[in-house]
Amino acid sequence: MRQTLIAATAIALAFAMQPVVAQDKPAAKPAAKMAAKKMAKPAVVEEKDAATLEFEKFRAKMIEDGNPAELFEAQGEELWKTKRGPNNVSLAETCDLGLGLGVVKGTYVQMPRYFADAGKVMDAERRIVWCMVEKQGFKAADLAKKPFAAETYTPEQTSLVTYVAGLSRDMKFAVPLKDPHVKEVYEIGKEVANHRAGPYDFSCNTCHGVDGKRIRMQQLPNISSKAGATTAVLGWPGYRMTGNRMLTLQWRMGDCFRQQRFPQPGYASDTVTSLLTFMTANANGSTYTGPGIKR
Ligand code: HEC
Repeated sequence: MRQTLIAATAIALAFAMQPVVAQDKPAAKPAAKMAAKKMAKPAVVEEKDAATLEFEKFRAKMIEDGNPAELFEAQGEELWKTKRGPNNVSLAETCDLGLGLGVVKGTYVQMPRYFADAGKVMDAERRIVWCMVEKQGFKAADLAKKPFAAETYTPEQTSLVTYVAGLSRDMKFAVPLKDPHVKEVYEIGKEVANHRAGPYDFSCNTCHGVDGKRIRMQQLPNISSKAGATTAVLGWPGYRMTGNRMLTLQWRMGDCFRQQRFPQPGYASDTVTSLLTFMTANANGSTYTGPGIKR
């Protein structure tokens, strides 16, 4: 495990030194554009493909050696089972993830779903946060302060989501679209994905609305198609080599709003749930491979 993490750090550093890989932002950066102009085009393309292949090899090797996400699954399991918070109760005994109290297995691939006790459709992370607040007595504002992992810090809810997700490994996505509450939120998510605004007049679909689109070396999945949506949700929550951090789809959504130059949506908000409902339901029927590794 330790060796794997060290290897991951080395790889992430190696990737970070290649500007084409470390790119998190849209291709509109003037400096990057100028640099690209100076380079002969075919060479750039070859380099990208080689880097992609290299990364694929790495990911396979790392998963063979021990997926770093497993560490967070184990931490999440302990957090799930321990009595904690001002109310000193465990999530295991109080938090219903949709398939009954005490059931974790299979719940991740069936979220987002409607929770009558909250009167809302919720994705896995939002539900876990809701339980931490409502059942354990943690303060929502505290949980929203630093909701995503930083260099030396992983939020408890990230580990919890990773644990819950791990117990849906090899199961099929089955967001309950027949439920009218879920269907309504799905339709909202579809609209949000299509909504163009901001300084560049971008929507999610500007980058993720057609097959085979790329920015630099990153393939941009078409989240409206089954295949694309499957790519989009597989591997999350994921251990991200860029920055060596365990991150969830809540983070991914926030970061894509940033790429879109939109104000970031609230943590665990309706907007994020609607997008996750749209994407995950589009992946219905595909098999979830468990928490993974992301570039
Ligand atoms: C300016 C282009 C752009 C816009 C607009 C954009 N994204 Fe992205 N998105 C990207 C890039 C680039 C990546 C890959 C980042 C990486 O690999 O580090 C990505 C990654 C993703 C992923 C993860 C894919 C994977 O393989 O794991 C998802 C899911 C996603 N975006 C959804 C969205 C949603 C939903 C929106 C609208 C809120 C959106 N994106 C808006 C560029 C964009």
